[in-house]
Amino acid sequence: MSTANIGLIGLGTMGAMLALNIAEKGFPIAVWNRTTSVTHKFKSEAGDLAERIIATETLADLVAAIAKPRSIILMVPAGPAVDQQIEALRPLLDPEDLIIDAGNANFHDTNRRAEEAKAKGPHFLGMGVSGGEEGARHGPSIMGGGEKADWDRVAPVLEAISAKYQGIPCATWMGPGGAGHFVKAVHNGIEYADMQMIAEIYGVMRDGLGLSAPEIGAVFDKWNDGPLQSYLIEISAAVSKATDGAHPMLDVILDKAGQKGTGRWTVIEAQNLAAPIPVIEAAVMARNVSARLDDRRKGEAVFGAAPMALPKGALTVEALEQAMIAGKILCYAQGFDLIVAASKEFGWDLPLPAIARVWREGCIIRSTMLNDMATALEEDQGRDLMFAPFFADHLRASTPGLRQAVSVGAAHGLPLPALAAGLAWFDMMRTGRSTANMIQAQRDFFGAHGFERLDQPGTGLHGPWGAHMV
Ligand code: 6PG
Repeated sequence: MSTANIGLIGLGTMGAMLALNIAEKGFPIAVWNRTTSVTHKFKSEAGDLAERIIATETLADLVAAIAKPRSIILMVPAGPAVDQQIEALRPLLDPEDLIIDAGNANFHDTNRRAEEAKAKGPHFLGMGVSGGEEGARHGPSIMGGGEKADWDRVAPVLEAISAKYQGIPCATWMGPGGAGHFVKAVHNGIEYADMQMIAEIYGVMRDGLGLSAPEIGAVFDKWNDGPLQSYLIEISAAVSKATDGAHPMLDVILDKAGQKGTGRWTVIEAQNLAAPIPVIEAAVMARNVSARLDDRRKGEAVFGAAPMALPKGALTVEALEQAMIAGKILCYAQGFDLIVAASKEFGWDLPLPAIARVWREGCIIRSTMLNDMATALEEDQGRDLMFAPFFADHLRASTPGLRQAVSVGAAHGLPLPALAAGLAWFDMMRTGRSTANMIQAQRDFFGAHGFERLDQPGTGLHGPWGAHMV
């Protein structure tokens, strides 16, 4: 019986939550998992929603259970498993059916799969889904990519299950092919940067100001009522205040951060596109350094730990809040700049205001500031966020705090790589006369690469290096 509106493959945490969300919004859904017992357990634990869930034991049963033209969401691990699943489904599906990859795919893979779909069918959408387990269950932020007509076909379901910002669904078609997964990758790069900047500021409060974890939690709680209001600040307050009964949780968690690679993809792509995203780069670098625990311990044994405790009054919590505000604006300006670069390079026409809007609710980086960003980008879609009057004013007010935090941190051995990268970028971006004239002179000296002059027109000019060589 073809009674399901949609199908879903992969009942891991995210897949199971998404399936429950779909059923809850009134859409009958057919589900299939490689391990049949998982499928039956899922349905048996679905409570009232079970009546809208069709548990299937084979892929053929799954396909038969979905109304035509069929739409099937894949929630399997990113990478070869997606290709294998598509290959297994293809012979069972009609050309007009639709496969939706809702995992964290690399957008290059999504581009390839979209091309393969055009040649071999069925239709294909690549969809970035953010919000973790809770988001998948109650309303994620959804970034779609592929043919617009395919998006429109499933948009009623996706909009119904997505997070809402003041009633507006956080589910948007971003563009063709891998556009949705690309936007999700940038989201994750920003996620890494937001998290790293919060961790850096936590470090200043812990090691520099000597605050306890619950005291730090109280600071984050307070910040969450101001311009920094965001999911990540909110959960940072929560984790700072949590205890295992005997200790604050933060004091007993190993300082070695994991990663699945999406932040790295963002950085690699930014390098390919020559788009500077130094805050995100620093955040990815810091995760990599965090994983090198043995080396860090060796370093501490050889060089001694820096005397991080700050003299009284050297840095205030208020300055740290300003540093975080500035760092955040700079990081997002870089992220949006990367999106512009990708949009041009890939001919995507990515909708900047819509991206800011779709990130306002449901996703990990959701925040009040994203609403201000959406407004700034709606006023002028092509503008650089750091030059939008609202954010330029914020930067004028907050960069002194950032400068103070970074300089005091450097003077006392408190590593603040992401914040420092933001500050350096800010200073570079307001320097009309940089030092790249030196680079051009060097390049011309050793390779006759040519330069332009300030006082003469023309390119490919050369210096009198031969005559003046020592
Ligand atoms: C989201 C997240 C999610 C990501 C985790 C873990 O938007 O819901 O970005 O997709 O997988 O945050 O990512 P890392 O393991 O790379 O930290």
